[in-house]
Amino acid sequence: MTTPNDTSLDTFRPALHYAASNTWLNDPNGLIFHEGIYHLYYQNNPTGTVWGNMSWGHATSTDLLAWTEHPVAIACDEREDIFSGSIVFDRHNTSGFGTAQTPPLVAVYTSAYKAASEHHGIQAQSLAYSLDGGYTWIKHAGNPVLSRGSAEFRDPKVFRYDGDAGSYWVMAAVEAADFQVVLYRSDDLKTWELLSSFGPANGTGGVWECPDLFPLPVDGDPENLKWVLVVNLNPGGPNGGSAGQYFVGDFDGTTFTSSTTVTEGLQDPARLEEYRWLDWGRDYYAAVSFSDAPDNRRLMIGWMNNWQYANEIPTAPWRSPMSLAREVSLRTTDGGPRLVQQVAADLSTTTVPSTLFDLEAVVVSNEALVLDGASGSVQCIHLTLTPGSADEVGLVVRGNGIEGTRIGILPAQGRIFIDRRNSGQVDFHESFASIDSAPIETSDGSYELTIYVDHCSVEVFAQGGLLTLTELVFPAATSTDVSLYAAGGTATFDSLSIKRWA
Ligand code: FRU
Repeated sequence: MTTPNDTSLDTFRPALHYAASNTWLNDPNGLIFHEGIYHLYYQNNPTGTVWGNMSWGHATSTDLLAWTEHPVAIACDEREDIFSGSIVFDRHNTSGFGTAQTPPLVAVYTSAYKAASEHHGIQAQSLAYSLDGGYTWIKHAGNPVLSRGSAEFRDPKVFRYDGDAGSYWVMAAVEAADFQVVLYRSDDLKTWELLSSFGPANGTGGVWECPDLFPLPVDGDPENLKWVLVVNLNPGGPNGGSAGQYFVGDFDGTTFTSSTTVTEGLQDPARLEEYRWLDWGRDYYAAVSFSDAPDNRRLMIGWMNNWQYANEIPTAPWRSPMSLAREVSLRTTDGGPRLVQQVAADLSTTTVPSTLFDLEAVVVSNEALVLDGASGSVQCIHLTLTPGSADEVGLVVRGNGIEGTRIGILPAQGRIFIDRRNSGQVDFHESFASIDSAPIETSDGSYELTIYVDHCSVEVFAQGGLLTLTELVFPAATSTDVSLYAAGGTATFDSLSIKRWA
């Protein structure tokens, strides 16, 4: 029997990722770097391990690896659930919630009104503010500040626009069931004026949720800024269920214009793979970026789960981890500008001791080669490989000779996949066991992968981060083997290094 505070059976608790101590979480909310601290708020059920009683939980970190959990920041009550949203530092006290000496942090969240409220049945945007750096919050007496009378208007992401059109707050939110991002502007965070709307376009296989809009330099050139519009959708991801897509284009202070729209209106299922996906795996959802990240970095965190089976994953006494924080940048490719993602934290600074396993080129021919001395359940694996004559090549992590998670490349088909059908516990939900794949390109016939393995997850960054696949797995604690394999011929692993924390 697992009791709420018994962690002896908590073999899936991540080492490098955040999970709440003994409650449920979903979307990251209010990500902000403030006074030297990364704040991660999140959709939280303070009293349970399934979705419900939605409130904002809170954790902080100085290195994006070790997180400290704090008391619930903004709690639901009998009138409203506190759905997803964002936080801005109102440094000039435009809202009047603070003073010039003590400017406030302002949270903009969705009030999902309940039966006891006069607004029952609608979702509208509300404010709360903090004068102590984000630890305690006061709900604004004039809530909601923005309503459209809609039942599906949610997930406000607010940022400061400073550009040719002026300087003001901009909110991106969704009309979820209409597949639309709606943009508003404000001078004081309290009164909002509609600017424009975007969508439907590209992926519309499910409701649009948790948008984000931010500028990025193309290829690092500050003179060449493009805007990225992130739209999470559920279901409708490339491998089923929840996923995030993005558009690249321009924002003139009023309207976002996409240069990566493949289909207008409702999606063409045949073209799903032409849309730009933040991640091709099953478990990277509701990803949004930090406000005020240092050094102009654009850092994102996603919820590492999928609404298809989220409430049933076999973890206790908590449920759902967050992804590692990722730095995103824009790179020009033959197919236009694309996001490139890297793990944001400096893993060399982690206080948990690590060991290093390095290998010179290895040739693998129609076999699986278990790497003695490389085993572990918390690892960063970096490798480059050339498939040669093999028609499938890759590695198995969290293996024990019977079970394992296979990460493979099919060079003739130009695809990369994660096969978690035999990854450990899979039968808690009928849609969990799967092979999930993505198109992968190579200019010189070689492939480069960086893989982060934790107690219940695998995050694959391929081809320098141009493509990512994130998946949950629930192997036995003793499944720690790493093996290389090639089928149908001979492949060369040109380089391989494995850093291991556990
Ligand atoms: C996305 C989402 C949001 C909503 C929140 C409720 O996962 O459905 O649209 O604000 O979760 O918990």
